[in-house]
Amino acid sequence: MTPHRSDTKLAAKDSAHEGGEYALTWEDFRTIQATLHEDAGIALDDSKVPLVYSRLAKRLRALGLENFRDYCGLILSQGGGDERQRMLAALTTNVTRFFREPHHFDHLRTRLLPKLIADAERGAPVRIWSAGCSTGQEPYSIALTILSLQPKAANLDLRILASDIDPNVLAVARAGQYPDDLVDEIPRDMRSRWMGRADARSARAGWQMGEDVRELVRFRELNLNGTWPMKRPFQIIFCRNVVIYFNEATQAKIWARFADSLTPAGSLFIGHSERVSGPATSRFGTDGLTTYRLGGA
Ligand SMILES: C[S@@+](CC[C@H](N)C(=O)[O-])C[C@H]1O[C@@H](n2cnc3c(N)ncnc32)[C@H](O)[C@@H]1O
Repeated sequence: MTPHRSDTKLAAKDSAHEGGEYALTWEDFRTIQATLHEDAGIALDDSKVPLVYSRLAKRLRALGLENFRDYCGLILSQGGGDERQRMLAALTTNVTRFFREPHHFDHLRTRLLPKLIADAERGAPVRIWSAGCSTGQEPYSIALTILSLQPKAANLDLRILASDIDPNVLAVARAGQYPDDLVDEIPRDMRSRWMGRADARSARAGWQMGEDVRELVRFRELNLNGTWPMKRPFQIIFCRNVVIYFNEATQAKIWARFADSLTPAGSLFIGHSERVSGPATSRFGTDGLTTYRLGGA
């Protein structure tokens, strides 16, 4: 049916995205914004319309849907949980690198790990958390740094919890296989000692994390804006380039929960463009660039 002139005008006014094969109205965009905020605490502002359109148009195509209204109907339906998960994966950024922000790993190696390894050698539990670990480069960089100081670390009660909301990135992380170009940032000596060549027939042929590295890391699906089942406090938390996508109120809550989850004088590493904010600020002292210490430096 040809729309009336007034309908066409209304459609143009309501349209959040010009052009393209699928209609995306502001109402659809608001539904997507609200769902992402409810599920993951992520705040998408209106400038993200083109990103939402381009990333989700692929989902509409795969599902054979005709417009975003039907897509929104699907994600809000009772059986829509799987697609909500796919939407989240499509709209989040998983960019990461081995030894990203190398000064954090220098700080870890020279200032924090010597004491923590000595504690673990005396039998004390040591726990490190990589929160929002994406495809695993961050927790494996922590594990490689630990092994460079204590090659038998896997025999100690020293473990890294690596968590993310997205099961797809966790599957890659668990496999621990990375193509050649991604491992360039790993120092050669570490690579040759703790990694091996991956089976050339496997999907991500290249390098494979060795047993000692993998033994140190436990991967878990966890929404930072949900409940945290962990009982033990952490001596160190890495949460880098994750909360940047949350609004201020959500960020403030997360900083406070991290402060509650650290041991006294525990350390928090955050992304280069992030700052601890809200009431928890006074509980931390700065201890170097984007590095904080509970109770002061
Ligand atoms: C840009 S990556 C950061 C990876 C790594 N921390 C780094 O700095 O290289 C952000 C990760 O945060 C995850 N993420 C986003 N919202 C989350 C949430 N509510 N709970 C847990 N992880 C979340 C994403 O799935 C993504 O893998």
